[in-house]
Amino acid sequence: MCGIVGYIGSKNCVPILVEGLKRLEYRGYDSAGLGILSNGKSTIVKKKGKVSELEKIIDGKNLIASIGIGHTRWATHGLPNEINAHPHPNSDESILVIHNGIIENYRNLKTLLQKQGYEFKSETDTEVLAHLIDSFYKMGNTLFKSVRLALAEVEGTYGIAVLSKNEPDKIIIAKHGSPLVLGLGDKENFIASDINALIGHTTRVVYLEDGEVAEVYNDRFYTKTIQDEEIKKEVFEITMKLDAIDKNGFDTFMLKEIMEQPESVLNSMRGRLLFDEGTAKLGGLEEVIEKLSKAKRFIITACGTSWHSALVGEYMFEQFLRVPTEVEYASEFRYRNPIINSDDAIFFISQSGETADTLAAMKEAKRKGVLCLGICNAVGSTIARESDAGVYIHAGPEIGVASTKAFTSQLVVLALITLLIARKKDLSLIDGQNIVKEFLTIPEKVKKILLLNDQIEKIADEFKHVDNFLYLGRGYNFPVALEGALKLKEISYIHAEGYPAAEMKHGPIALVDENMPVIFIAPKDSTYDKIMSNIEEIKARKGKIIAIASESDDRIDKIVDYTIKVPDTIRMLMPILTVIPLQLLAYHIAIKKGLNVDQPRNLAKSVTVE
Ligand code: F6R
Repeated sequence: MCGIVGYIGSKNCVPILVEGLKRLEYRGYDSAGLGILSNGKSTIVKKKGKVSELEKIIDGKNLIASIGIGHTRWATHGLPNEINAHPHPNSDESILVIHNGIIENYRNLKTLLQKQGYEFKSETDTEVLAHLIDSFYKMGNTLFKSVRLALAEVEGTYGIAVLSKNEPDKIIIAKHGSPLVLGLGDKENFIASDINALIGHTTRVVYLEDGEVAEVYNDRFYTKTIQDEEIKKEVFEITMKLDAIDKNGFDTFMLKEIMEQPESVLNSMRGRLLFDEGTAKLGGLEEVIEKLSKAKRFIITACGTSWHSALVGEYMFEQFLRVPTEVEYASEFRYRNPIINSDDAIFFISQSGETADTLAAMKEAKRKGVLCLGICNAVGSTIARESDAGVYIHAGPEIGVASTKAFTSQLVVLALITLLIARKKDLSLIDGQNIVKEFLTIPEKVKKILLLNDQIEKIADEFKHVDNFLYLGRGYNFPVALEGALKLKEISYIHAEGYPAAEMKHGPIALVDENMPVIFIAPKDSTYDKIMSNIEEIKARKGKIIAIASESDDRIDKIVDYTIKVPDTIRMLMPILTVIPLQLLAYHIAIKKGLNVDQPRNLAKSVTVE
């Protein structure tokens, strides 16, 4: 949610900032802006729409500066227009602020500032920060101190970067709840919401923590808490390469990421399977594995697609570990004073590792002293850093707003965790080895499903004009139905609902007629006969049926309108396969409707506000 970039050094910052904004655009894309300092002057350029719109107006301006900040916005307060775009200046434009997050007490602060004579131009909460910092600056404080004093008055979340033309040798940054990372170069420093914007510039990064403020010069930086205590920061090395955030010849990131899944699922399991012992090896859990295997209850919490993988995790944990498992929306978990026992273990699943609700749920759980485990993709993300232990899914950067490869990698990691704990409990060596063997077949099976792309595209063509879709699955494939429906609605704007197949009789069947396509996820597993009955029920009402079925199933073709066949595997791993046709179907329908699948309307990749 909102992307922040900054540069200070000897190069012209403008192309660096624009390039950084493009790489962060998945965080928000309703407007963009730059603020730069040169020759004792501040300049702001803002534009409604995508970074490419901003770029067009910059091109004609011959802007050159060696210090600047940039922002790509996902609107929280005020319409997405030029006035509400960032940076926001104080009255004489000597101070410029960009902000990601929400200032919750901005109305009170605004009233106080208005009483002091400050005039506001935008509807944003951010503009309050510019004037508040200005009010402290006018009292004779340095910019660094003014930012600290201003933030001490603020309630809410923020990642901010601040410039002043009166102190043109520094950028002040601060974080509380919204991510910020500092990239250290040679006589140049970079600022970004996430490391994607830093790749190719530097491999040395410093993650700011909540309540920290940094004064960043071209050749050094100082960090303090908002309360003025000095802090020493650790420098981390990042290994990500530029091609990881490139479309690599694909038209969209989403298609690239769907097609990458044979490698991404392999990367998630690489070096983590031990055939001889019939188990998994997860370095990140080694220190807590004894406690984890003795947990009396698991809670898995997440949002959106990650919540769907948590639901699959529930089936895995209960089938193999026989430990009661609850799955919670992070946004609900955090506010309802959940009952947590000391022998529980709580997993927090997040691709970005920055989702505000999941992070807040984790903080709440940590307060209660329970074991908190992160399952994240983004290396160095807040949830990954702040959990007691955890596992990276290693799917590589996911840029398309609709999550695809992160989902399948989350499922791999949940299955690895299941195997690891199950072998500590009562899963036999032979059974463990059989699971390991099956794991190893998954990347090839994923590859085989991706060969169905053309067939799925043809099916998409038949259905691109419909207004509603129903997705039905049972057992392990019920969460896949939810995920398939979410993929379709978020990128094609077609209304879609996922249901447990049998639940359909209790209401949704009323919607079914010849205009309602119904997708059944119906591989040959223990629920197959039941789901076949559900298929007959839909057929009797003339619903059009698309089935995701097992390769070995020739009965289903005679009953349904379209079948998409996937290879067989064990139940636990089946969702990794069955979801892929649904990703492709959603993708092709959206593309045929002429929509931007990488940046669907109203969405942003990383939801860092409540
Ligand atoms: C859907 C999607 C979202 C995210 C959700 C959680 O395609 O991407 O529903 O899954 O916002 O995000 P993370 O996993 O980053 O916590």
